[in-house]
Amino acid sequence: MTWNRFTVRVVLAIASAAVPVAAVAAADSPPTFYRDVLPLLQDNCQECHRESGANYGGMRAPMAFTSYESTRPWARSIARQVASREMPPWDAAPEHNGVFRNERTLDDEQIATLVSWARAGAPAGDASEAPPPRVFPASGGWQIGEPDLVVRMPEPFLVEDDVEDLYAAFSLVLTEEMLPEDRWVVAFQCQPDSQVIHHFNLHLLEPDENGELPPPPEFPDQTQIAPSPQNAGRYMGGVSSGSEANFYPEGYGFLLRKGSRVTFDIHYHKEPGAGTAVWDQSSIGFRFADEPVSKALGSGFAPLMNFTFAIPPGAESHQVGPLVSPPAAHPVDIIALMPHAHMRGKAARFVAIYPDGTRETLLDVPRYDFEWQTVYYYDQLKQVPAGTRIEYTAWYDNSPEKAAIYGFDPTRTVTFGQPSTDEMVMGFIMSARADAEAPGAETAGDDRRP
Ligand code: HEC
Repeated sequence: MTWNRFTVRVVLAIASAAVPVAAVAAADSPPTFYRDVLPLLQDNCQECHRESGANYGGMRAPMAFTSYESTRPWARSIARQVASREMPPWDAAPEHNGVFRNERTLDDEQIATLVSWARAGAPAGDASEAPPPRVFPASGGWQIGEPDLVVRMPEPFLVEDDVEDLYAAFSLVLTEEMLPEDRWVVAFQCQPDSQVIHHFNLHLLEPDENGELPPPPEFPDQTQIAPSPQNAGRYMGGVSSGSEANFYPEGYGFLLRKGSRVTFDIHYHKEPGAGTAVWDQSSIGFRFADEPVSKALGSGFAPLMNFTFAIPPGAESHQVGPLVSPPAAHPVDIIALMPHAHMRGKAARFVAIYPDGTRETLLDVPRYDFEWQTVYYYDQLKQVPAGTRIEYTAWYDNSPEKAAIYGFDPTRTVTFGQPSTDEMVMGFIMSARADAEAPGAETAGDDRRP
């Protein structure tokens, strides 16, 4: 990441930096690393903060909290980061605690433990009180586990010296050898092969009834939402800063049809200059269903988007929307929600409007962070009745204060565009029809099962 995250966090955290003191341990027995702190770090931090920890779309934790020696120098910084709720990274309002399965939050007592440990001089304590080390499964770099199918860009691509931003689309048609029959996908992951990928999305185009595919996607230009849907097909999700792989709940998935065209839609971003050229040949891994899939993704709400907004120069909190979906024709299971904005993104909110007119806030993100593009996956799927509409509203900060942190130009009217210095207003709703079995679901069984 190019700007100084520490500055960003400190500046953004000022308003919320009150340190909870409620549950500070008695002064004569401060928390110790081995007894009190390490278990907390194992459960809430080590997924990212360890050697070769989880890579969230290029967001890799630069330090490991696995041993006393490697954690001790960070004690004060840990206290600051957890007290301001900058770490662990999670931007949903506290009212949603317990709702999303990928939630990363600490409660007040846990924060107080870390803060009072740091204040007490970060004592090690007795190593015999340490919990056994947390073991993370070797995944070969795949969050989804070992994929059943990996497709790679057809050829390596050279991101040349002079490239700063480049929007590229590569595509291939799945061969008989790669995918001999239609399969249900329950997880997939776009896996960058280089450090210069800003985002990387999967689009799928299925053959028509004659088995014919339209021509491959055109190389997109920067004003388009790349690549065009007619020839690249359905947008299935992908990876960008701070995001994790796509996992669907049990019983849900999408059918990957044999002979489909797979498009790798990639935004390369780097500092231009002599010697900065990089080769890239990224991959997408798919995991197929072992158990039958009965609900097809994508049959609920379409994404809510606006392409015609204009954020005025200097605006501190420019509202776009509410954008409102048409009423659902069927009951819908909402699987996940994802607000998407760029550097000026400030806040976002999804609201359900039920047929009787009552409103429910599904997701409120009061402090949007462009670097953590989180997909909020429901723990218990949210089912809404036919006739429900979804409303999406987003707020943008084009002020000189925010510009000073991110390095954008606050004197300009900002409109839709691919570069991070332009903006996007997108509310994604991952959902499925709740009342119907997916057509063809019976083919989901894994014929390699014993
Ligand atoms: C989802 C991954 C993830 C989790 C979980 C996570 N972190 Fe981090 N952390 C990061 C990344 C990436 C960075 C570096 C970039 C940044 O600062 O945003 C970071 C940076 C930090 C920093 C350094 C901030 C600075 O710049 O000085 C501290 C301290 C920290 N994390 C503490 C924690 C603690 C404590 C926990 C658990 C309670 C935690 N983190 C959980 C990913 C994570």
